[in-house]
Amino acid sequence: MLNLAIFGSGSGSNYQAIADAIAGGRLDARVACVISDTKDATILERARKLGHSAIYLDCAPFKTKLDGEAEQRAIELIKEHGGNFIVLAGFMRIIKPGLLTAFAGRIINIHPSLLPKFPGLEAGRQALEAGVKESGCTVHFVDGGIDTGPIIVQRKVPVLPSDTVETLMNRIHVQEHIAYPEALQKIAKDLAR
Ligand code: GRF
Repeated sequence: MLNLAIFGSGSGSNYQAIADAIAGGRLDARVACVISDTKDATILERARKLGHSAIYLDCAPFKTKLDGEAEQRAIELIKEHGGNFIVLAGFMRIIKPGLLTAFAGRIINIHPSLLPKFPGLEAGRQALEAGVKESGCTVHFVDGGIDTGPIIVQRKVPVLPSDTVETLMNRIHVQEHIAYPEALQKIAKDLAR
């Protein structure tokens, strides 16, 4: 059974969608714990409300990666809570080899573009500036790169002439909330085989 350790830095709406899918019987998984590098992140508030273990992980001295002592602590925390699969849901740090090795093939991420297009920050702005007619979201396995790794699910949205970064990102977010539970259920089925 998938026992999810969910990592996020912000709002946690994707985590919420995953928890809703579990509660609604659309996803065969459990939430082991929710871990954030941001003490007052909404994702931790949501986790407390849902009765999941909500854990703040101090990632200092690093600003953009999960490394060193914090990485080791993350591995311990996941194991202590029985987690066997990592879901990155708006976690604003680069995952380094320690965690990638400890959970090889068991870390996934969601990104707000149709990868390999527009990896990295500000994917919505990148799409608007490139003038593409469609964008979307991608759930993918995490490897050593930034938003690289095998793709599990993609969902598309149109890019409208009137779009701002905000309206486009809102449209993509709606699809993310469908794509993430769908990707996880696909993995759950594959593991059960
Ligand atoms: C999503 O747009 C996701 O694609 C990106 O971070 C955002 C997280 O949103 N990786 P939320 O915290 O799940 O609301």
